[in-house]
Amino acid sequence: MWKGRFSKTTADLLQQYGESVSYDWRLYPHDIAGSIAHARAQLNAGLLTQDEFEQIENGLRQIEAEITEGTFEFSIELEDIHMNIESALTERIGAAGAKLHTARSRNDQVATDTRLYCRASIDTLRELISDLQRSLVNQAETHAQTIVPGYTHLQRGQPVTIGHHLLAYVEMLARDKERLSDARKRVNQCPLGSGALAGSTINLDRAAIAQELGFESITHNSMDAISDRDYIAELLFSFSLIGAHLSRLSEDLILWCSSEFGFITLSDAHTTGSSLMPQKKNPDICELTRGKTGRLYGNLMSILTALKGLPLTYNRDLQEDKEPLFDSIDTLTLALKINTEMIEAMEINTQECLNAASDPLLLATDLADWLVKNGVAFRSAHELVGKAVAASLREGVPLDQLDLTTIDPVFTSEASSIFSLQKALEARTNTGAPSFKNVKEEADRWTQLLQE
Ligand code: ARG
Repeated sequence: MWKGRFSKTTADLLQQYGESVSYDWRLYPHDIAGSIAHARAQLNAGLLTQDEFEQIENGLRQIEAEITEGTFEFSIELEDIHMNIESALTERIGAAGAKLHTARSRNDQVATDTRLYCRASIDTLRELISDLQRSLVNQAETHAQTIVPGYTHLQRGQPVTIGHHLLAYVEMLARDKERLSDARKRVNQCPLGSGALAGSTINLDRAAIAQELGFESITHNSMDAISDRDYIAELLFSFSLIGAHLSRLSEDLILWCSSEFGFITLSDAHTTGSSLMPQKKNPDICELTRGKTGRLYGNLMSILTALKGLPLTYNRDLQEDKEPLFDSIDTLTLALKINTEMIEAMEINTQECLNAASDPLLLATDLADWLVKNGVAFRSAHELVGKAVAASLREGVPLDQLDLTTIDPVFTSEASSIFSLQKALEARTNTGAPSFKNVKEEADRWTQLLQE
């Protein structure tokens, strides 16, 4: 494409080192849509005849079909998807094809393609997150009343329900979707027309191009537009946080399906065995999800590091933006799909959950609250219950069977009425707290929201 100035061909190793078509080929539908919009603007500016425009459009559509079918031959001599397509077009239609790159550079072209690709990926990922939310909400709805210990420091704290626990992830995922929608606004701006870095002496209707491609607006500084990769860094951060949420969920599920907890049973379809130990059934999906989160973080670090020392404007370093971006999108796509399926199919062992929650120590806070309701200051109540817990542990008598009046006379015989898990949960009626009714209502609210 630049043979005019050069007297030697590119070294083989440089071709291998510099090519990106082996991975950026996936931009092709966006590259073709961008080229057609660009050609239409040339037609409207009188730079192409109607006939030339039609040759370009038909030629590009045919190339698109061949790439989709897998019959198009890519060449690394042509570096990237942009030059592969342009060169194939000119080979096929001749003179008209050679006009396409007027008032355009690969710099504004690749920025446009990548933004279109990101926009489409955001829309798909948002759908996949909704699917995962729906699978969590369905389980939460079924298990709105399945009592289970809630933990802090991985020590049993207070009773909650499986429904409440799972809905916590639904909230996280909702924020993740919001972050993607917010990032979409910054992605959805059209850089085409920015040229290599300083626009062009040939004026094309940028607004019309943007509109044809579904962009909300056009960029306002050509130098920023072709060297900005903020939107990629921002997406990779959002993806990392989704990874963090999926990884925490994975960790919960790994614990829950261990013999020590036994709260859930994962489907045989979503677990693997051991080549040596015949009894094993391993939660590989959860572990892979936790492990792959490292890749999502690594990809974020790659782009941030690539950007930090670059003078304006385009530098070839920027080509390194694509592999991390694509890898994170592919990783998340599969992670969301498989986790949705796994959660839908997992069984929750109601009795094991209840057994684990049946330790009366889980209601120590409720006992302190009972004292508060009987006029004791919370700090004193905390100390009195602490003493009762110590006595229970020392004497080996469960807290609910201990004669509390020996600890302090403010404990009347009524105090032990708090030792009912049912009541303990029913009493947690504050917004956001896990009373059965609240959890059911929250599950219903999410079902409704996710239908829209
Ligand atoms: N494949 C290149 C990239 O991804 C396209 C832009 C090339 N521009 C250039 N000046 N060499 O960044």
